[in-house]
Amino acid sequence: IRLQVQTKTMMKKTMLPLQLIVMVCLSYGQADDSTNQHSTSDCSFGSFSTLFSGLSAEVGNLRREVEDLRKSRNTVGVAFSAALRPPTQDSQGYGNTGPFQADTNLVHTHVITNVGNAFSPRTGVFTAPVNGVYYFTFTSYTWKNEANIGVALYKNHEEVALVYEYQDKGDNEDFASNGATLQLAKGDTVSLVLPSGFQVTGNAFRNLSTFSGFLLFHIEEGQ
Ligand SMILES: *[C@@H]1O[C@H](CO)[C@@H](O)[C@H](O)[C@H]1NC(C)=O
Repeated sequence: IRLQVQTKTMMKKTMLPLQLIVMVCLSYGQADDSTNQHSTSDCSFGSFSTLFSGLSAEVGNLRREVEDLRKSRNTVGVAFSAALRPPTQDSQGYGNTGPFQADTNLVHTHVITNVGNAFSPRTGVFTAPVNGVYYFTFTSYTWKNEANIGVALYKNHEEVALVYEYQDKGDNEDFASNGATLQLAKGDTVSLVLPSGFQVTGNAFRNLSTFSGFLLFHIEEGQ
């Protein structure tokens, strides 16, 4: 609706100079009549054709502007949330992922929301569908003592945020969360990584450890 209003406003802006030029041309014509002279300079076919080619160029500019506005509206819906499910579970559904010897992609397989399908529950990787600014957050649960627990947020192959803790004996449970606003180019990836030697807990029924992200706004190429 806002776009339609903007288009109408732009059309009004274009029509106004046209009206003015026609009025100026008519008043010149009247002045010429009163002095009984015949003017060919201001209302000739040549001046109208210059006027019209100027206007059609202006219409072309406005068309492009409208197209840019249409594209820059946040028409691409991108939003996801997914939960970690454990590889094996106890009677209450809990189970740990890790520790592994190498940094390992942490795959949140249970999709809660996946508008735009930019998040893959198979690989755990989010791939930016458009250039833009996105927000990501993750919450990690652990139920394990005397262990390194932690999860990192990666942009492409670089760590951008981390939560970690060495859980002492007797400290059985913890939640931790972190997040980041990231400017991404189309094709950039964002994922969670379990650092080597670390672990995290999932539950088969409840959404305890989660990973979420969404597009805040789209940025045009070259901006
Ligand atoms: C986990 O998420 C799903 C959405 O996919 C929801 O239906 C379910 O109720 C959640 N489970 C719990 C226990 O909150």
